[in-house]
Amino acid sequence: MIRRAVGLSVVVAGCALIVSGGMASAGDDMAPLAPVPAEYADKHMPPGGWTDAKALEEGKKIYLGEVVTDINCGSCHGEDGKPKKKGARDLRDPKNTSRYSDSYWFWRVSEGIPKTKMKANKGKLTEEQIWKVIAYQHMFSHDGKPSEHTDYKP
Ligand code: HEC
Repeated sequence: MIRRAVGLSVVVAGCALIVSGGMASAGDDMAPLAPVPAEYADKHMPPGGWTDAKALEEGKKIYLGEVVTDINCGSCHGEDGKPKKKGARDLRDPKNTSRYSDSYWFWRVSEGIPKTKMKANKGKLTEEQIWKVIAYQHMFSHDGKPSEHTDYKP
């Protein structure tokens, strides 16, 4: 009797493990990130760029479409970082942004994401402008405050 009960609980625990494992991998948002292409692997935030007040101020203007008027990150990602367009990644959530290396972030903003509303910005924004808008966007996951990207976890 006792042996049967133990056997059953092992089976139940096993099933619970399988179910929870399946659920974790089904969360498509947490699927592994695409690898950064070689040509972007050496792109890094300029020294001090995450927290430089002037750069952040300019980043905000770029984000809101006040510098290059046909590029308005806020129209999809929200002026306050709360996504407006369906499917736009919520970049207020550190679970998302702590997964992005600076190179990854720069690559995505430069090249966009195929088959989504996220379009390429290279050629329209300079590299310098892209870094500034990234630094500004990064604040959404840090209570709106300038912050080093030390929460990045590969
Ligand atoms: C027309 C709407 C739109 C605009 C404008 C837009 N985005 Fe996006 N963005 C999206 C969508 C949709 C996604 C999610 C795409 C996906 O992975 O399915 C996204 C994803 C992202 C991501 C996450 C990338 C990843 O791999 O998870 C970053 C970073 C980002 N956008 C930054 C920006 C920046 C910076 C700008 C302005 C220069 C911008 N976006 C402008 C719609 C937009």
